Amino acid sequence: MEVQLTAPNGKMWSQPLGLFINNEFVKSSNEQKFASINPTTEEEICSVFAATADDVDTAVAAARKAFKDASWKSLSGTERGALMLKLADLVTQNAEVLATIECLDNGKPYSVALTENVPEVANVFRYYAGYADKNFGQVIDVGPAKFAYTVKEPLGVCGQIIPWNYPLDMAAWKLGPALCCGNTVVLKLAEQTPLSMLYVAKLVKEAGFPPGVVNIINGHGREAGAALVQHPHVDKVAFTGSTATGKEIMKMASATMKNITLETGGKSPLVVFDDADVDLAATWSHIGIMSNQGQICTATSRLLVQEGVYDKFVESFKAKVQELSVVGDPFEESTFQGPQVTKAQYERVLGYIQSGKEEGATVMLGGEPAPQKGKGFFVAPTVFTDVKPSMKIFREEIFGPCVAIISFKTEEEAIDLANNTTYGLGAALFTRDLVRAHRVAREIEAGMVWINSSNDSDYRIPFGGVKQSGIGRELGEAGLAAYSNVKSIHVNMTA
Ligand code: NAI
Ligand code: MG
Repeated sequence: MEVQLTAPNGKMWSQPLGLFINNEFVKSSNEQKFASINPTTEEEICSVFAATADDVDTAVAAARKAFKDASWKSLSGTERGALMLKLADLVTQNAEVLATIECLDNGKPYSVALTENVPEVANVFRYYAGYADKNFGQVIDVGPAKFAYTVKEPLGVCGQIIPWNYPLDMAAWKLGPALCCGNTVVLKLAEQTPLSMLYVAKLVKEAGFPPGVVNIINGHGREAGAALVQHPHVDKVAFTGSTATGKEIMKMASATMKNITLETGGKSPLVVFDDADVDLAATWSHIGIMSNQGQICTATSRLLVQEGVYDKFVESFKAKVQELSVVGDPFEESTFQGPQVTKAQYERVLGYIQSGKEEGATVMLGGEPAPQKGKGFFVAPTVFTDVKPSMKIFREEIFGPCVAIISFKTEEEAIDLANNTTYGLGAALFTRDLVRAHRVAREIEAGMVWINSSNDSDYRIPFGGVKQSGIGRELGEAGLAAYSNVKSIHVNMTA
């Protein structure tokens, strides 16, 4: 059920391969597996067991039993918080192994996994551990004839489905609030990145969570994912991934009227006004689209630049990309950009680049594969100019290191361009005019706005979208709302 692996950085560990159900790793019922590929070398790392609908049923039954069991149900919030703090400590102690697995399986730079992603997991667990005994109801005074109060109750069994761009962080964003509120969980990982969270599963057991509280499975979306969403004993579904799959999940969840939260796609604008600090705007524009190989739902993938600073901005942005976007082996310290996660994503990104060329945009930088030693799903950081709002590269989520720059004349035009999309996840704007900054922030249709920065995500601040970018919020205090019911209790004081 485990295999010994050694990474190029010399790190060795015992990698679990099974489905983590009831605190044990088990085979899938028909012993089916799928391979995980290292996107840097295109070689197979190992194969993991993939859940069937029957296995999902087993996992849900374990979670349902654990939900009712005194070992979890009778814990106080303080005690649940203590378990979560223990898990956070174990994640921190195992930071190097976790970062190594993430780098190997996902292709993201080791330095980023170690200094950003793994700490984020521990931070999210600690943050929600703190809330576990500070999330309670109200007494509502309606006069002496009635005593009324509310209790926050866990929802039950939560089915959670995550993508491959941030395998550890997306899991933490979902597990943190769910466990804080006293739910139990069946978490389905993405097929492309099945490994890091299986290692965390070992830590869940070591932290002392009762069996069945946290179940972590691999499996195909259409098989295991769909079975989880449709399962009659799953009370809630939380999903992060594509808008198309989000819509399918919504449809499937309607049969049993499940509570859902969805974090889906985006085509987030970054607006640079004439009065902006152009160098600052260029720095954040680079971070906002080129980080994580461009595989970020909130990536600011459309740069809207006012005419007066257009040439200066484009020159400055081009220089930043050339200087900072070092493409290479993700285990190398100097690497900023590793490979795309899979061949399918690599081809998809190159397909969008091709469409940009065909529709008449100008490739200012990149526009082609960037293999390392002849291997890997690497795409050169790509910048398009002479972009029209009708072009696919301006309208559709590319999910790669590829950005479209367009110019505008007036603030009104910028807001129209920014909002002319079916998405509404993030938006960034650069100006030195405080009044304009707050005015435009209010006008942009997005769940999150960054003034003079981009993609500045913070576990203490709500994250989520409007329009077709999703439903509900994760992180912050707002993230708790998705994981409890408010029960109202009326007591007749005249009885
Ligand atoms: P996807 O949305 O199909 O997959 C995400 C998760 O959903 C995976 O765990 C998958 O197994 C599961 N899933 C797939 N079909 C399902 C179904 N019918 N029922 C239940 N679960 C299901 O995304 P995919 O195919 O990996 O990527 C395609 C595109 O989606 C990307 O190019 C990108 O544009 C977007 N995407 C957006 C993400 C975000 O953070 N918002 C993350 C990943 C992808
Ligand atoms: Mg992989």
